[in-house]
Amino acid sequence: MRRIAPQELLATPFSIFDQQWALLVAGSDRPNPMTVSWGGLGTLWNRPVATVYVRPTRFTFSLLGEEPAFTLNFLPEAHRAALDLCGAVSGRDTDKWEATGLHRLPGEAVRTPRVAEAELALECRVLATLDVDPAQFLAPAIEDLYPQKDYHRVFIGEILGAWAEDRFIAPSA
Ligand SMILES: Cc1cc2nc3c(=O)[nH]c(=O)nc-3n(C[C@H](O)[C@H](O)[C@H](O)COP(=O)(O)O)c2cc1C
Repeated sequence: MRRIAPQELLATPFSIFDQQWALLVAGSDRPNPMTVSWGGLGTLWNRPVATVYVRPTRFTFSLLGEEPAFTLNFLPEAHRAALDLCGAVSGRDTDKWEATGLHRLPGEAVRTPRVAEAELALECRVLATLDVDPAQFLAPAIEDLYPQKDYHRVFIGEILGAWAEDRFIAPSA
């Protein structure tokens, strides 16, 4: 694992979100990992960004409101059980670090820690948020994903630090 520039990242964005999933860690005094599988990596406002989508019902949502930073951590398959747990229980009533046995490493660019077991970790500060507005849906099927009407808030994070194992680093880097 070494620190790289975001431009050196060799990533397959569709599989790392949809299949591998990630742990979104928010908060610093009481950081909390939450499983996410919707998100994106790209460029916005001339900066490298990671974008995540968080429903207002999540404990993570309130943590992001308190401190506009997060880390996005992609773990090897051996940690699938931890991802299952962090996507099923809330940090409101469970210490998910203790429950999963996962460890924290201090962030260098943000106060929020990253996950020590990650093979790719991104440290981000929130540049902007956008609220999903159902009035703007053009495909009616999207509304079916919101039976509780808990529309996501979009958190656009500038990637200030990237940590990766070799398989996520472009060969020419
Ligand atoms: C595979 C998977 C992906 C998920 N992706 C998201 C997501 O992108 N956004 C979201 O708000 N919740 C997502 N969830 C649900 C949260 O992880 C879950 O509600 C979690 O318990 C919330 O934790 P918290 O209350 O500690 O924040 C996902 C759950 C799973 C299992």
